[in-house]
Amino acid sequence: MNIKLQSLPAADLATPLLTVFAIDTSTAPAAGIKDAPATPTLLTTNAALLAAAAPWLTTGEFKATLGETLLLHSPSGLKAERLLIIGLGKAKSLTPHEVRKGAGVAVRFAKPRTLRDLALTFPEHPSLPAELTTRALAEGALIADFDIDFYRSDRKDQSITTTTLLHPAPTPEVQRALDEGVILAESQNFARTLVNEPGNVLTPTELGHRTAAMAAEFGLQCDVHSIDKILELKMGAFAAVTQGSSEPPALIVMRYEPATPPPAGSPVLGLVGKGITFDTGGISIKPADNMDKMKYDMAGSAAMIGAMRAIAQLKPNVRVLCVVCSCENMPDGRAFKPGDVVTAMSGKTIEIMNTDAEGRLVLADGLHYAQTLGATHLINAATLTGAIGVALGLINAGLFSNDDATTQQFTDALALSGEKFWRMPCTDDYRDQIKSQIADIMNTGGSRYAGATTAAMFLKEFVGETPLVPWIHLDIAGTAWIDDNKPWQSKGPSGVAVRSITEWVRSYAR
Ligand code: BES
Ligand code: ZN
Ligand code: ZN
Repeated sequence: MNIKLQSLPAADLATPLLTVFAIDTSTAPAAGIKDAPATPTLLTTNAALLAAAAPWLTTGEFKATLGETLLLHSPSGLKAERLLIIGLGKAKSLTPHEVRKGAGVAVRFAKPRTLRDLALTFPEHPSLPAELTTRALAEGALIADFDIDFYRSDRKDQSITTTTLLHPAPTPEVQRALDEGVILAESQNFARTLVNEPGNVLTPTELGHRTAAMAAEFGLQCDVHSIDKILELKMGAFAAVTQGSSEPPALIVMRYEPATPPPAGSPVLGLVGKGITFDTGGISIKPADNMDKMKYDMAGSAAMIGAMRAIAQLKPNVRVLCVVCSCENMPDGRAFKPGDVVTAMSGKTIEIMNTDAEGRLVLADGLHYAQTLGATHLINAATLTGAIGVALGLINAGLFSNDDATTQQFTDALALSGEKFWRMPCTDDYRDQIKSQIADIMNTGGSRYAGATTAAMFLKEFVGETPLVPWIHLDIAGTAWIDDNKPWQSKGPSGVAVRSITEWVRSYAR
């Protein structure tokens, strides 16, 4: 999809589909009245658009709820063939995040109707700053253009060709915001494409190839290491997980160096991703139902690779390195077993209680390795536990951290990305649950209680304490895959965390 800015008056644009946003400006109902009738109000000052829509806004059939649409054919006084009015919800809850969804609704309305071009009228409202709103429009349109049916023989190329953004007075800042939105959303879709691939296509080796190709395209340093390096580094936890698979593992390392070297002592951000390209559970094998979904167990690494793709183009003045630990988790004659004791790269010994708790094992070595490469701040993303979905549902992803200031910096990034993460406890009160009788720690908490936190406590064992290495763990198991279509986004891989991690990285630029 190509997205372009244009300042033409809306009435003069010949397009198959012109869209305009609307909100409900009804005020609180008087006492005793249950619901005030909706007052749909267009977010434009364009007289021709207001005139074309006016007769249809008072019929009561359109309430401007978020994602609701009203289609007018041959709208009077406009050159457009169709006018689509898109609801963004109540006036008081209007932010650029609703606009992101609204732009998605426009695209997902056009796609199945084989409309190839559409135009979005820039929404005008005091709650919608020009640049953030432009970015949200670009992101929403591109995220909505993604579909999961890559392998269907009857897949038509349903992508939108051009989305025109009608802006009353585009400035260079608005153009830059649009370009940033395109970079962020295309990087999110890059991550989604990786996650959508089946396990037989996206093996660890293939993940290495695609990452290296992306890195070469955008000027990142990239090395893809084999099992020899994993053994040489004494990554005993990572090696244990991969040993039951016939597919070779991949240890992927990327670096982003800013054009002007940051002053000595500046932070080096370490991004670490869980890249299990298929998780059977291993010897502690998973039930057959839904096991097919475990191809998405590399979504944490896809988020990091997607973020690196965006960082390479946005060029913040901060050093970033990325470590991806990728392998399969398979049962086999050589597979690791419950009861085994393995030694991680850090030297800590781990008693394996459950081979299905493999993500924390590969991350243990990934986190430690990133610190030996010079990372001063760590962030990792992983589809780590089913328990995070039990705790937070499919709305918020989990955030765990050893540092309040770093958490605040990530929370500030969420205000830009519009993604939802909820901080969960990760305090030493939970440390006893992973104590082992025969080794330093166990790889599960032993009970179902606080399963997402005990997984985080395990990871924390591999993060420096003195001096403290600020660290954030994102558990995206509940949010990386969407089971149902939404009006603004296809079901399937969500690409969650790419935009937030990128904004967090940018917040360290000096
Ligand atoms: N990959 C899974 C977590 C997962 C579950 C991701 C559901 C997406 C959806 C992880 O490796 C796992 O199996 N975790 C176990 C841990 C348990 C054995 C302590 C889990 O959550 O059941
Ligand atoms: Zn598992
Ligand atoms: Zn897993």
